[in-house]
Amino acid sequence: KNSSHSSSKFHPTTLPITHNSIKVSIKATLPEEPDVVPLIVACAKKEFGDYQCNNAMSLWSKTKGKGTNFKGPQPIGQAIMQNLPTSDMIESCSIAGPGFVNVKLSKQWMAKRIQKMLKDGIDTWAPKLSVKRAIVDFSSPNIAKEMHVGHLRSTIIGDTLARMLEYCKVEVLRRNHVGDWGTQFGMLIEFLFEKFPSGEVNDQAIGDLEVFYKASKQRFDSDSDFKERAQQAVVSLQGGEEKYRKAWAQICEISRKGYEKVYQRLGVHLEEKGESFYNPYIPGTLDLLREKGLIEESEGAQVIFIEGKKIPLIVVKRDGGFNYASTDLAAMWYRLNVEKAEWIIYVTDVGQREHFEMFFTAAKRAGWLPIDESKYPKTSHVGFGLVLGDDGKRFRTRSTEVVKLVDLLDEAKTRCKAAIKEQEEARIKRGIVVDWTDEERDRTAEEVGYGAVKYADLKNNRLTNYTFNFDQMLNDKGNTAVYLLYAHARICSIIRKSGKHIEDLKKEGELILEKDEERKLGLHLLQFAEVVEEACTNLLPNVLCEYLYDLSEKFTGFYSECQVVGSAEETSRLLLCEATAVVMRKCFHLLGITPVYKI
Ligand code: ARG
Repeated sequence: KNSSHSSSKFHPTTLPITHNSIKVSIKATLPEEPDVVPLIVACAKKEFGDYQCNNAMSLWSKTKGKGTNFKGPQPIGQAIMQNLPTSDMIESCSIAGPGFVNVKLSKQWMAKRIQKMLKDGIDTWAPKLSVKRAIVDFSSPNIAKEMHVGHLRSTIIGDTLARMLEYCKVEVLRRNHVGDWGTQFGMLIEFLFEKFPSGEVNDQAIGDLEVFYKASKQRFDSDSDFKERAQQAVVSLQGGEEKYRKAWAQICEISRKGYEKVYQRLGVHLEEKGESFYNPYIPGTLDLLREKGLIEESEGAQVIFIEGKKIPLIVVKRDGGFNYASTDLAAMWYRLNVEKAEWIIYVTDVGQREHFEMFFTAAKRAGWLPIDESKYPKTSHVGFGLVLGDDGKRFRTRSTEVVKLVDLLDEAKTRCKAAIKEQEEARIKRGIVVDWTDEERDRTAEEVGYGAVKYADLKNNRLTNYTFNFDQMLNDKGNTAVYLLYAHARICSIIRKSGKHIEDLKKEGELILEKDEERKLGLHLLQFAEVVEEACTNLLPNVLCEYLYDLSEKFTGFYSECQVVGSAEETSRLLLCEATAVVMRKCFHLLGITPVYKI
């Protein structure tokens, strides 16, 4: 299996061999080139070492013929190695190929670091990012339309990204950019007035909002009188007429109640600032862009031409109305200037990539964002692929409607509950007492079921389409949340059944990474922060999933080679079990999965 961090092109700053020590040694080697970024990667081949410094090659090409005495990259590598500050972190170093400096970490140092984490908590391992405040714009369903599977992806991916950034101590503003504005409201309001002339509306009366939306759309398409009134209603709404604002707010509120339920079930928190919130800022924002000469007239509309794109970005429609893009520009202005966000992350399907590219470019041209994308403030579009059904087509239910989120979550829960019941019956047959309450069963079924749905989504590179399959995601073998949750619960039960107090062991016991399998597991634990940093920097949750799955495999490797309970090394190995469980729990937490276990 090709694990992403061993072949990573990304150079984390949280490595056990610190950037600083490499910098120091490069400086001692080549005092003229003090400003190089240390290139450190995990060694692809474990026999070489744990980490590799790859600076020699580029330093050679930079300094060649500039009066240094080096005859090639290899001697530069040698010198870097010799100049490395002495450190109890390093067991040995060696040179390979054109000056690669391989570093093997000291087992004692690794063990100490893991023990320290057990004492001080996993939060002390959080990587430090250079960004202080970020906005994650995610979920963002459209009012009066049901949330569908695409919004599920956005909700799950966005929540994980927010959690990971929060873990790195970034202040995250979680924004729900709901589609609560636009011409469809004229039709909805008019239909509402028709059905409830008294103005007495409540959610029960409206019932299913999607059905309501469809009925009003049908009315709109088939009756020209109605259509005219609907168009007039848009004008009245935008003009701020009380009666219309009230109807609009009612429709939004009913819709909001629907998707809040989904968030609650998924354990996702968001703050709603919908499209309507940014309305007052649109004219001012467009004025700023006009001042910069960015806005032009084209076929009666006002547009921004973007180099390399055939169609310009429309910011004022021909009828004078604003649109999705004008709202997004105003929202960006607000986020940069009022909320002072340094990084704005938008999570939507890849189909919207063009839209984001266009208005990001416009913002750069206006001077809101630096041209150099490595500088802040910056924006990122986190695109994701489609969810497919077993037939390879877009995921739909039998009735060919889009899948409703609640139904999907219900089914995940029902299936899990059935599996729990089945296991219980098997246990009872074996004479084991089962004392679960129905409430416990329910809660477990929810946690495992929703966890499975989330993990099945997150483990794929977000850009690829993936097939939604309950049997697969609820399988207790293979790379699934169910398997991982079991693996974690098993580790907890090893510790519990040892009869030892883990808190005492943490204080008094000593962790020793003697055997090969112990060292491998220990090294993997130490790489946690690098992986989180990579996942945050590249906005790729699947990197963390891969790490978690690898961790459970490394644990299995350790457990099958090393006896824990009753061995001479029991204390040390229990501590290693505990460290694995702690890191696994942090991974679950970052992925929005609640582990079920007894302690
Ligand atoms: N409401 C949009 C949709 O359902 C997503 C909004 C994404 N956020 C944004 N700032 N454009 O497609």
